[in-house]
Amino acid sequence: MHRRLIVPGALAASLLLAIPATAADYTPGAPGIGDPYYPDYGNGGYDVSHYDLRLKYQPATDLLEGTATILATTTQNLSRFNLDLGLKASEVRVNGRKAAFTTSGVQELEITPAAGLPKGAPVTVVVKYAGKPSEVKLYGFTSWQRTPDGGVAANEPEAAAWWFPSNDHPRDKATYDVSVSVPDGTQAISNGVLQSTSSKLGWTRYNWRSAKPQATYLATLAVGKFDITTDTTASGLPVLNAYSKDLGANAGAARASVERTTEAAEWLESVFGPYPFDSLGGYVPNVPSRFALETQTRPFYSPRQFANGSNVSVVVHELAHQWYGDSVSVHGWKDIWLNEGFASYSQWLWSEKEGEGTAQELADYVYASHPADDPFWQVAPGDPGPENQFDGAVYDRGALALQALRNEIGDRAFFKILKGWPQKKAYGNATVAEFVRYAEKVSGKSLGALFDTWLYATERPALPGVRVAGVPDAPESWADIARSHER
Ligand code: ARG
Ligand code: ZN
Repeated sequence: MHRRLIVPGALAASLLLAIPATAADYTPGAPGIGDPYYPDYGNGGYDVSHYDLRLKYQPATDLLEGTATILATTTQNLSRFNLDLGLKASEVRVNGRKAAFTTSGVQELEITPAAGLPKGAPVTVVVKYAGKPSEVKLYGFTSWQRTPDGGVAANEPEAAAWWFPSNDHPRDKATYDVSVSVPDGTQAISNGVLQSTSSKLGWTRYNWRSAKPQATYLATLAVGKFDITTDTTASGLPVLNAYSKDLGANAGAARASVERTTEAAEWLESVFGPYPFDSLGGYVPNVPSRFALETQTRPFYSPRQFANGSNVSVVVHELAHQWYGDSVSVHGWKDIWLNEGFASYSQWLWSEKEGEGTAQELADYVYASHPADDPFWQVAPGDPGPENQFDGAVYDRGALALQALRNEIGDRAFFKILKGWPQKKAYGNATVAEFVRYAEKVSGKSLGALFDTWLYATERPALPGVRVAGVPDAPESWADIARSHER
């Protein structure tokens, strides 16, 4: 006989009466999280706490397949909800039961569970999926780069949809276990701590754990043949760096830079406070792109970052993001200055420490190298618009804004803020407006006018704030520092 739960009649009736909502109270979760820059990114109606990804990747064919198990809590009564995914789902289960699903929009996997999900309840979603990430094009771009011996998922503002289903927006952070099986002799690199590896039947499995809240775009996967170096920091954290075996002429400079990760992180601790995560490192795959990315605990570096020799400045930039961007993440993508302004300013501080030009000198240089009619001054770092999210102005004007703040409130308050903010907002999200209020509180000064000038004006601010130095006198190296990081 078919087994079922036997509920005595009276009890069954009272259970029914106790259900407060009717079907009409269960509505679909929104297809976007509500970010005006990117209305489709993320989803509404639930909050993810953990992703467990169990994957297999074949470099020869670029086929990625596996199972994502997602732990979430509903934030409304849900009749259905979406995940963001570019690959193809073959089966979806919600709380163990098969769910109906369809695809809609650019990257929406629309899931209808067998029964409505009440608000505030834990939900387990299992998605079986497969596909070739290099064939996924969303919004006309790709976040998966093929390499001669594998592939890499790393991009901003979105990369997850190329390799796992998610609530793809930094506002919904979660912890990760990423387990990837690849052919023996090939490695799979991801975030956090490498818990273990095992090999059988010609396949090696890499088990990675990222144990602190992590934004979806900061989750990364790289498969290929790597030289791996490991170490332990003075405070006991595991360090793991990985370099594609085929970096050619850039190999030496890449290692001469990324092997200084521990040193750079230690120095950043003196500026920003304790390192927020339980492991660190970096990886340099043989990708065609030029950019670097602050993937959590283990930044991604294009080999092109090292084409002119060592570039510790970019390592400092990506490590600074571990505090500004990764631990404290943007609330919406318009808050990007909280990431790039601070990461860029940390490069100026590093330069100052290395005796290669003070932050003030670099600020003067950047100011003077952009004449008043340069479109640079039309990009407002405090709200650059999605089309200018990674414009040079977000970085360099963004860093200028911090030099202006430093000059206005003095070193004591300024460095108190640089350290205090990542503590106050650790593992969370924040807006530029919240930062401004915080800076006002710590400094005891009204800073509205200063930030209006440096973050929101669309013309070159008048001095003071930054002194102008003559560009012709500036050493060549300042241009290098200002440009040391290709976006
Ligand atoms: N946050 C990265 C950095 O500044 C920028 C990535 C920009 N994205 C891109 N595809 N170029 O390090
Ligand atoms: Zn950056």
